[in-house]
Amino acid sequence: MLQKVLLGASRRPGLRAAVTRTPATRRVVDRFVAGEHLDDALRAVGELSADGIAVTLDHLGEDVTDRARALRTRDAYLALLDGLAPLALGPAAEVSVKLSAFGQALPDGGHDVALELVRPVVEAATAMGTTVTLDMEDSRTVDSTLAALAELRKEHPGTGAVLQAMLHRTEDDAKALAVTGSRVRLVKGAYDEPASVAHQRKADVDAAYLRCLELLMAGPGYPMVGSHDPAVVARAHELAAQHSRAAASWEVQMLYGIRPDEQRRLAAAGTRVRAYVPYGADWYGYFVRRLAERPANVAFFLRSLATRR
Ligand code: FDA
Repeated sequence: MLQKVLLGASRRPGLRAAVTRTPATRRVVDRFVAGEHLDDALRAVGELSADGIAVTLDHLGEDVTDRARALRTRDAYLALLDGLAPLALGPAAEVSVKLSAFGQALPDGGHDVALELVRPVVEAATAMGTTVTLDMEDSRTVDSTLAALAELRKEHPGTGAVLQAMLHRTEDDAKALAVTGSRVRLVKGAYDEPASVAHQRKADVDAAYLRCLELLMAGPGYPMVGSHDPAVVARAHELAAQHSRAAASWEVQMLYGIRPDEQRRLAAAGTRVRAYVPYGADWYGYFVRRLAERPANVAFFLRSLATRR
């Protein structure tokens, strides 16, 4: 219930203005967001790399409603790739994009606009020896995002997909994407979805996740296990052993600031680990989804507001 209220709030402009103007919010946001600027993101990349953790960088922003902002998203990602180039991390530093930030929802041809604007980002990533992963947003965008993926993979087969276990359709999508060379990040799903398209009970989402994980780990693709759930991470290791997967044939992904000790522990023990590092000024939607995932985060946030100076 709280989760639905929060996810609804993530789309209310009035609330967004009130929360983002509150100085005390900043301290809580800092836990989940590397900073507002490219330099902040690059500093986080340096720290994580020193611990043997790969990264996927997200320039925050979503749901753009005009082409000018979509162009700014493209330029921000090109600047990000320029900033990463001197670090020469290759595939250990990739980027994640939300197609809604590239204009996917624009009326009259938003899908094509997003594809046109994301393509130079994918080309620049390939030229640097790294990849782009297409984040998955609410269920109405899945067909468009998977169609864009198929298009981009023709010339850039390393382009990654995200599948959300909560959606009823995802087992079929996982079967279709469990093919050679296919990079698929499996997540539980962070959006408020109706019962017609998604499991509503956490236990059902968790069970669906494990079924999809089995499909991906059994196949010839490159599964990216996007979860902080200890049961999921343990099962992924079991499946890797069962299918004789080399350590370099799959990875665990976690969000910046969530279970950082576990990220370091797994990396030190030889599991490939990648942290999803968001940065930028447009952090509101991302931040509210992180609050919605865990009631304790809301309590922490409210406490920090109550004790603000
Ligand atoms: P679950 O919610 O069961 O949490 C398991 C444990 O992890 C919790 O008990 C807690 O310890 C810890 N935890 C989880 N969330 C936390 C939080 N916010 N704060 C503190 N601790 C927390 N979703 C989506 O719809 N589209 C996408 O493209 C992506 N991309 C993405 C990338 C990566 C790398 C990750 C890890 C996740 C995503 N997600 C996502 C988010 C995903 O859908 C999901 O909402 C969260 O990962 C939380 O689910 P868990 O699998 O961690 O399990």
